[in-house]
Amino acid sequence: MVALAGIADRSLAAPSPSARVESLLARMTVAEKIGQLTLYPDDVRPTPRPINPDINAQAEARERAAFQRSEIAAGRVGALLGGTGVALGRELQRLALSSRLGIPLMFGADIVHGLRTIFPIPLGLAASFDPSLAESTARAAAEEMTAVGVHWTYAPMIDVARDQRWGRVAEGSGEDPWLTAQFAAAYVRGFQGDDLRSATAVASCPKHFAGYSAAIGGMDYNSTDITPRELRQTYLPPFKAAFDAGALTVMAGFNDIDGVPASGNRELMTDILRGELGFAGFVVSDAGSVEELLPHGFASDPADAAAIGFDAGVDMNMGGGLYKTHLPGHLASGRVSMERLDAAVRAVLMVKERLGLFDDPFRSLDLERERTGIRTPAGLQLAEEAARRSVVLLKNESNVLPLKPGARVALIGPLGDDPAHMDGCWAPWAKVGEAVTLAAALRERLGERLTIAKGSEINAPIEGGIAAAVAAATQADVVVLAIGEGQDMSGEAKSRTEITVPAPQQALAEAIAALGKPVVAVLNCGRALALEGAVRDADAILVAWFLGSRGGPALADILIGTAAPSGRLPVSFPHRSGQQPFYYNHRSTGRPQQPGERPFFKARYLDAPNAALYPFGHGLGYSRIAYDPPVMDAAELRRGGSVTVSAVVRNTGARPVDEVAQLYIQDVTASITRPVRELKDIQRITLAPGEARSVRFAITEADLAFVSADLVRRAEAGLFRVWIAGSSAEGEPASFTLLA
Ligand code: BGC
Repeated sequence: MVALAGIADRSLAAPSPSARVESLLARMTVAEKIGQLTLYPDDVRPTPRPINPDINAQAEARERAAFQRSEIAAGRVGALLGGTGVALGRELQRLALSSRLGIPLMFGADIVHGLRTIFPIPLGLAASFDPSLAESTARAAAEEMTAVGVHWTYAPMIDVARDQRWGRVAEGSGEDPWLTAQFAAAYVRGFQGDDLRSATAVASCPKHFAGYSAAIGGMDYNSTDITPRELRQTYLPPFKAAFDAGALTVMAGFNDIDGVPASGNRELMTDILRGELGFAGFVVSDAGSVEELLPHGFASDPADAAAIGFDAGVDMNMGGGLYKTHLPGHLASGRVSMERLDAAVRAVLMVKERLGLFDDPFRSLDLERERTGIRTPAGLQLAEEAARRSVVLLKNESNVLPLKPGARVALIGPLGDDPAHMDGCWAPWAKVGEAVTLAAALRERLGERLTIAKGSEINAPIEGGIAAAVAAATQADVVVLAIGEGQDMSGEAKSRTEITVPAPQQALAEAIAALGKPVVAVLNCGRALALEGAVRDADAILVAWFLGSRGGPALADILIGTAAPSGRLPVSFPHRSGQQPFYYNHRSTGRPQQPGERPFFKARYLDAPNAALYPFGHGLGYSRIAYDPPVMDAAELRRGGSVTVSAVVRNTGARPVDEVAQLYIQDVTASITRPVRELKDIQRITLAPGEARSVRFAITEADLAFVSADLVRRAEAGLFRVWIAGSSAEGEPASFTLLA
């Protein structure tokens, strides 16, 4: 094990030992202990929409629900996955309580961005650049999920995603480790609340540990090649933040890292997770990820897989009972020790205790709350606010937005009026029809002034569709083009090689552009897209991600100007798909292409610029903003001290604006190559028209530290550049020196 790699500056205190847990452990049989390490997909209460391939293979051969009931009654199941519903939940809990030791079940589910009140996908929420908003939506989601019997959520997903081909970009907070870490902590605080025992708290399970998002080629489930240094620099900090915020469980990834699958990786799951990061809870596998050590070619048979995964540190098996079948033999042969088994069971029971399940096994199983706690007016209002704040305005030529009062509007495209494509990738409990579409919201606001034409399907042309759309657009003053990805085009197992608007919609956009009317493109997407032709050249572009239950009203208010856009891109929009992986905080090359230089033998493509089409951090409001160059209060920073950088931000437009001032730093010379810029902090300020205000950031040594070649995190003396700007690609730098 590498000596403390600098990420863990303080270890989490292990949960205090519990007399109740120890007394249970002393009385449990091996079968009961392994039962606690078994997580079955809930076959008594399956999810309305399937979320996983069938992983409960063991039960398949039998009557699945009946088998699960009998296993629960025998005290051989620790938790269930994906089930909701109070009446049956109470019945299952009663069965568990009737077992010999009466250990309650823990009900887990993937409530990633809402159960029935659907919030924007996490990538959208990240665009708010406001972690406190994610804390609020997670709190509201926890209130809703505890009303239907859920104790434990498989969220947040905090994999730093630098390749937009990877479909699970949608589930996370984008490409930046600092921003992802802020959101990670906020989600955990929101889900868990102040007290895990409270009726509305759920245990949070950050995922996927670790490096899963670095899938080679952006193809989900693919291998990863992450150096030990990069793992600690980029992929682990969000997990550290989540654990510091109190997360007591974590999910293992499907991926291998440099040849060792995460779910069988002792160095990762034990030395790094428990040692360096000080994690004191339990690790759950991903769905069948320990079973998958076989196809990985890392285990010779299922028994071998069980031993490797468990020994590596994966405490609970999400799947079909792999541990149940094989751990008893390993205990008998000595391949797995009783100490290891007890440690895993203790960690699981401690989480149940922390949730208050022993004292109140029927917590979160209240029929009255199930009746009144779903889709509450307050939750839906928050969903609308979150949706509004997730929208990013990329461009707004000639101030085409907000739409002029009285304008006749044609809403064209397959995504303006389709409630089945509003919710995004993790909404198996959402009911189609409950989300308010843009068409419905605009109709309410514009009445007769709105015409609607679909023009094309998401991935297929409609016969006569373009002609009908052109006819509708001809009658209008302005076209709103609602296009992009369907909600089944991002998320798990939804990788793409071309991250473009699907061809039939692109053809529709070209035909509409030919009319010469002002066009506003509203993009549904679960990732950054490479925009082309008429979509790229639209007069205005709004990124709408998947906004959830109240997406339509949020967008409509922004379009007509009763609200202003304020989101910022948490992922860089490239020029071309082939630029992936593409992220702003890449390391300095030896042959950078500087503006104005001859493009000879430089780090560049022949057929696309290096810069983003729209960079990380970019986002416009309905006013104009100008930054004065930043000013340092001192030229030198002493270790242990701080320097302050400030810049005046001006609203030079005619409307109030909500601006996100972003602090970026570059370590100019170091013992390893360093990123060209890194986000270190943000401040949100509201400026009235004509108002100017100074924003200030204090910088300390900790902000300058990085994981160096010896895997120790420290700041190196020397020159630093610093920007305060409206995006990762703007601004003039100031500089200072960190003294030795
Ligand atoms: C996903 C996890 C999810 C699990 C349970 C897996 O396929 O990778 O993110 O929590 O299924 O639904």
